[in-house]
Amino acid sequence: MSKIDTRLNVSPVPPDEIFALNGAYAVDPHPQKVSLGVGVYRTDDGKPWPLPVVLKAEKELVVDDDLFRHEYTAIEGDVPFLGIARDLMFGFEGKQGEEEAKARIGSVQTVAGTGANHLGALFLAHHMKPPTVWLSNPSWANHQTIWELAGVPRKTYPYYHAATRSFDFEGMMSSLESEAQEGDVVLLHACAHNPTGLDPNKEQWVAIADLCERKKLFPFFDSAYQGFASGSVEEDAWAVRYFFNNKPDMEMCVAQSFSKNFGLYGQRVGAFHYCTNRASTTLRDVVVNNLCHLIRGEFSMGPRVGCSIVKKVLTSEELTADWHQDLQVMSSRIKTMRKALYNELVRLQTPGTWEHIIQQNGMFSYTGLTPKQVYALKDKYHIYLLKSGRASISGLSQKNVAYVAQAIDDVIRNEN
Ligand code: LMR
Repeated sequence: MSKIDTRLNVSPVPPDEIFALNGAYAVDPHPQKVSLGVGVYRTDDGKPWPLPVVLKAEKELVVDDDLFRHEYTAIEGDVPFLGIARDLMFGFEGKQGEEEAKARIGSVQTVAGTGANHLGALFLAHHMKPPTVWLSNPSWANHQTIWELAGVPRKTYPYYHAATRSFDFEGMMSSLESEAQEGDVVLLHACAHNPTGLDPNKEQWVAIADLCERKKLFPFFDSAYQGFASGSVEEDAWAVRYFFNNKPDMEMCVAQSFSKNFGLYGQRVGAFHYCTNRASTTLRDVVVNNLCHLIRGEFSMGPRVGCSIVKKVLTSEELTADWHQDLQVMSSRIKTMRKALYNELVRLQTPGTWEHIIQQNGMFSYTGLTPKQVYALKDKYHIYLLKSGRASISGLSQKNVAYVAQAIDDVIRNEN
């Protein structure tokens, strides 16, 4: 490439795969095109689904006509929203020791899940200086970017066993056991691992928590799918709550997103929670104060509208019940489409095994398709998925699932 005339020291960086694919899909005129790329919920008609409970909350907010609705919030964000977000994540509402538990958590509002991951990475880079952050192999590609920008050296731990298409628990444990050093950060997906859809079981989570405690590692949870994965907000928060309640001497943090579970993708609603190792409001407040320093210098404060919607829903018993129903609608449609794709592939006797599609959890299936097969799907059938073989199951519908299965069958059979 010829040198660009500029004062800058820049060279092209690779485009973000997920959003580049989304852009390519948008301009593809093919009538049967299918988007299995970006992780967004779609109805069986392939349309976005503003959650019915969100539409109700929006109407109520218009009626409320709050004079302050376009005003600045505090630098840490909307304080009542933060309490609600924290309670949803940690679930100690009404339990014994609730006040002590709350005194261990410093929360601030972020620009959705990416912003929470970023702020957390920056905060730890400044104030903990971890020698290394350990990311699962594979992980959401943006984790690499976020920690690279925070200037923290990255290493990966094994996560996926390709031959069995299962979670490589032994590989993860032995690699962290032998190589991770005191003070390293371990990035963990709270549920619905992106991209594999494979999560540790409860026994394995207990062992991971023990390992982090014994080796003095710092667990950093990314929670992007609470309630969306299983339909239950309790179930999807199990790992975070286990670490928090059972390892009170271990500091940890959580990046929380409301993009998927409220369908508020563009509203950028999120929170970052730092858990201290003792109930000290003094320590907690210093943590928040330092997070606010970073927030003020970067974006002043999180945006208001999306968090007002979440707050409206979660402060009303009736709307909260509606939300739980909406979560059921989304998670069960995804499970239905997993089954439909699996059934079609089995019916076609497509070479390979396909049980993993129904065993995986959450938004994605790690299909096992090769980059060459993925390319052929796009080229010949206008079906878009990531070159790792990750497919966003929500892009499937009763109308296109036979077409997609037939296409997969074709590219596998006619590979050479
Ligand atoms: C995805 O992984 O497709 C989503 O989480 C969207 C994103 O921000 O990458």
